Amino acid sequence: MDKSMDGTNHSMVSEFVFLGLSNSWEIQLVLFVFSSMFYVASMMGNSLVVLTVAWDFHLHSPMYFLLANLSFIDLCISSVISPKMINDIFRIRKVISFGGCIAQIFFIHVIGGVEMVLLIVMAFDRYVAICKPLHYLTVMSQKMCIVLLGASWIIGLIHSVTQLAFAMKLPFCGPNVLDSFYCDLPELLKLACVDTYKLEFMVTANNGFVSVGSFFILIISYIFILITVWQHSSSGSSKALSTLSTHIMVVILFFGPCIFIYTWPQPTSHKYVAVFDVVLTPFLNSVIYTFRNKDMKMALRRICSQLFVYRRISEMIKVL
Ligand SMILES: *[C@@H]1O[C@H](CO)[C@@H](O)[C@H](O)[C@H]1NC(C)=O
Repeated sequence: MDKSMDGTNHSMVSEFVFLGLSNSWEIQLVLFVFSSMFYVASMMGNSLVVLTVAWDFHLHSPMYFLLANLSFIDLCISSVISPKMINDIFRIRKVISFGGCIAQIFFIHVIGGVEMVLLIVMAFDRYVAICKPLHYLTVMSQKMCIVLLGASWIIGLIHSVTQLAFAMKLPFCGPNVLDSFYCDLPELLKLACVDTYKLEFMVTANNGFVSVGSFFILIISYIFILITVWQHSSSGSSKALSTLSTHIMVVILFFGPCIFIYTWPQPTSHKYVAVFDVVLTPFLNSVIYTFRNKDMKMALRRICSQLFVYRRISEMIKVL
């Protein structure tokens, strides 16, 4: 395609237009109601996880710190995409500035990368706890947790910046319509007016292979851990099994849509999977952590009863 077909030089794209999910008014209404509901619910659920872990000292262990970090990340990822999507649903022209689009891609990949590494760190944490229980406290020390967390943020940043560095050099001169409701690389690259075959391959390799690879590493490690649990079945093993099952569910919820989006060749179906990933996954994660975990439920109960006691005391003070 010619860069300046009309002979002028002001043909650089300064904004992108989203096609959104549907033009039907009824579907838009349903989408609006459901995504607003799940967005608010996932903000509340994930904040609850972060605050509960911070407040309750029974939960001050590496596993819960990592869980709280994951919830914090879920809070971030839904806030990068959902509010703009909800705000756009009823708009005829859904626009995003060039800078806004790049910012969305940047944060999606930083946060996605961090989440991926964190899930691996959490599997490592369970591996040490279950297969090397005597060394748990020395291996997963406070220092180790901070190093692993720092590493996951650095890996996320490198993952995001390297892809964007290539994408930002591309000329965007003509078409600016994205068949989606948020900006991401696979769709954006198609709009560049140069041949992006190599870059698309790199993006697929970077995201697709990395997510398929980490998914299999995670599943294999969890199978290994499960086998260890079954071999040494004792009183603690049912608790270990329930913890492991929550971790495995979260891994599948995160990687399922991710792998689909970056490896499935039919881009039109990506956005329907993405809406699931953006709206539902963060909410389900917080539900899985809070309601499938005994310690978490107990901590919530302790916090509730403490709040109740405070209220009673303040009522009594008012009466006096
Ligand atoms: C994340 O983990 C670190 C290290 O264990 C912990 O100090 C921090 O409070 C956690 N962050 C959140 C948001 O829970």
